[in-house]
Parts: sequence; structure tokens; C-alpha cells
Amino acid sequence: MNQALSLYLQEKAALIEQHLRTALEREEVPVRLYEAMAYSLLAGGKRLRPILVLAVLEALGKPVERGIPFAVALEMIHTYSLIHDDLPAMDDDDWRRGKPTNHKVFGEATAILAGDALLTRAFASIAEAYLHHPEVKPEHVLRLIAELGRRAGAPGMVGGQMADMEGEGRSLDLTELEYIHRHKTGDLLVAALRGAAYLADASPELVEALTRYGMNIGLAFQIQDDILDVEGDTAQLGKTAGSDLARQKATYPALIGLEASKQKLAQLIAEAKEALTEAGLGDSMLMPLADYIMERTH
Ligand code: IPE
Ligand code: IPE
Ligand code: MG
Ligand code: MG
Ligand code: MG
Repeated sequence: MNQALSLYLQEKAALIEQHLRTALEREEVPVRLYEAMAYSLLAGGKRLRPILVLAVLEALGKPVERGIPFAVALEMIHTYSLIHDDLPAMDDDDWRRGKPTNHKVFGEATAILAGDALLTRAFASIAEAYLHHPEVKPEHVLRLIAELGRRAGAPGMVGGQMADMEGEGRSLDLTELEYIHRHKTGDLLVAALRGAAYLADASPELVEALTRYGMNIGLAFQIQDDILDVEGDTAQLGKTAGSDLARQKATYPALIGLEASKQKLAQLIAEAKEALTEAGLGDSMLMPLADYIMERTH
């Protein structure tokens, strides 16, 4: 990975970590529930969705601080989705972010509630943080909330997860598989980019360009996730490699093979970068971030 990007990722992730650590404080919450929420939220992770938010604000010449509450909320929603994704009723996984999964430590009931609590807390945090924000118009906050609610919900991530479950043990065609990937994973990335664009008061043209970028890196991100499940290493991934095969999941490598999956991935990344260049964002960190989606090893 190029050194500037590696530094950028480290620096931005550290900033997010700092805000995640304080995000759950100040609330009176049953101790065990708090511990379960904090356990997964503060377990590490690449913090990619928050980093995309900050990168968009930078690319559009706005202060990154403005994006922090939204970035934190996205990571809460993402973390909730991982806790629930790992449950025995879903992917039944034992490892996440290098630690035993939430339900392994706290039990299923608490894991379900910790997920519920992170999801709802995310929306409360956004509303609280931007309620009287001097630079962000209420209309933009409402747009962001609507976008996030839809893309995280039944027409988005939850719908993708449903289709993923229904696809287990069945052979799907490429259209069905693409639906799953675009929704279970792509939609939250698109929400990050579009939400950040609203916070930056971006033009409709820029919102469209960032959406095109997001749809391409979103699908690409899940294809690389599928590839890493085959080629990756459990210790480095922090989650069990080979889990998809064991559960007979519909994945790109399973359907079209590893080589074709890698080609598709490269095509999507090229298309994402083209969207940026055409919109005049070719000098931003969003460019190397697109390459990172493809090159990452965990
Ligand atoms: C894993 O997401 C689940 C998918 C949507 C593929 P990440 O690969 O972003 O996981 P963390 O946040 O770095 O742990
Ligand atoms: C997860 O997809 C997508 C969501 C959590 C919404 P996966 O099931 O492939 O993610 P991992 O591989 O367990 O991280
Ligand atoms: Mg899953
Ligand atoms: Mg999973
Ligand atoms: Mg996976």
C-alpha cells in the first residue's frame, strides 16, 4: 500500500477511535448492555465508512469535524450489523475483529439487544449533534437521516441480509448475487458518501458522482470480502476464513471463480475512479481509497 494512504488511514482511524470511545458515555444504561455495545464498537475494525465521510468533506473543501457525528453513527450501525450477522441464527461465526463474537461473550439475547441499541443510538446521535449545528442546514440533516434509514433498512442492508439468508445452500444467478452484495454491503457505503455530500452542501452533480463512486466501491468491497474468505488468513482477517464455503454462501468466487471475481473487482474500481475524475475529484484521497478496497488484505 502506498505510504501516504497508509498514514491517512491510520490518522483518520485514530480520530474516529477517539470519538467512538466517548460516544457511548453520558447515558444511563444497564451495565451489561453497555459492556456488550462497547465490546464490539471498540474492538477495532478498519473504520472505512467513517473514513469515507471524512474524505468526502476534505475533497469538497469542508472541515472534517463536521462529519464526525455522522461517521460515528455509521460505525455504530455497521457494528450492529456485524453483531447480528454473526449470530447463530445468521452466519453463526465465532470470531470478529480478532475477538470472540459478541454472542460468544455476552450470550445471544444480550448480543441482539446490543445491536438494537447501537442502531437506535446512531440515529439519536445524529439528531442531537446536528440539532443546532452552525454550518449544517436542518434540511440537509433530514435528507441524511432519510438516506441512512432507507439504505440501512429493508430496501437496503437489511433486505440484502434477508436475500443472503435465503440464498444459503441454493445456486443463485449473477443478478441475484449482485442484488445481495449491492444491498447488504454497498448501500451503507453509498449512504456514507451521500450523507457526507449533504453535510458538505454539495451540488446534485457531485452527489450523483459520489453515488456512482459508492455503488462501484460498494459492490467491489463485498467481492473482495468474498475473495478474502477464500484466500485470506484467519489471524489477519480477525474472522474465520472459509466461513462462506462452510455455510454454502452465494459468493462471487463460488459463482464465477476467483480469477473472474478479481477481474470484475478491478473493473469496478476503475469505474469508481472514473466517476471521481469526471467530477473533478481526481486529486482527492477518494482515489487511493478506491484502490485500497481492492488491495486490502483484511
Ligand atoms: C465486514 O465489514 C462486513 C462487510 C460488510 C463485508 P468490514 O470489512 O468493513 O469490517 P471491519 O469494520 O473492518 O471489522
Ligand atoms: C456481511 O456480509 C454484511 C453485513 C454485515 C451487513 P458477510 O457476512 O460476508 O460479512 P463477514 O464476512 O461476516 O464480515
Ligand atoms: Mg453474512
Ligand atoms: Mg458474516
Ligand atoms: Mg464475508
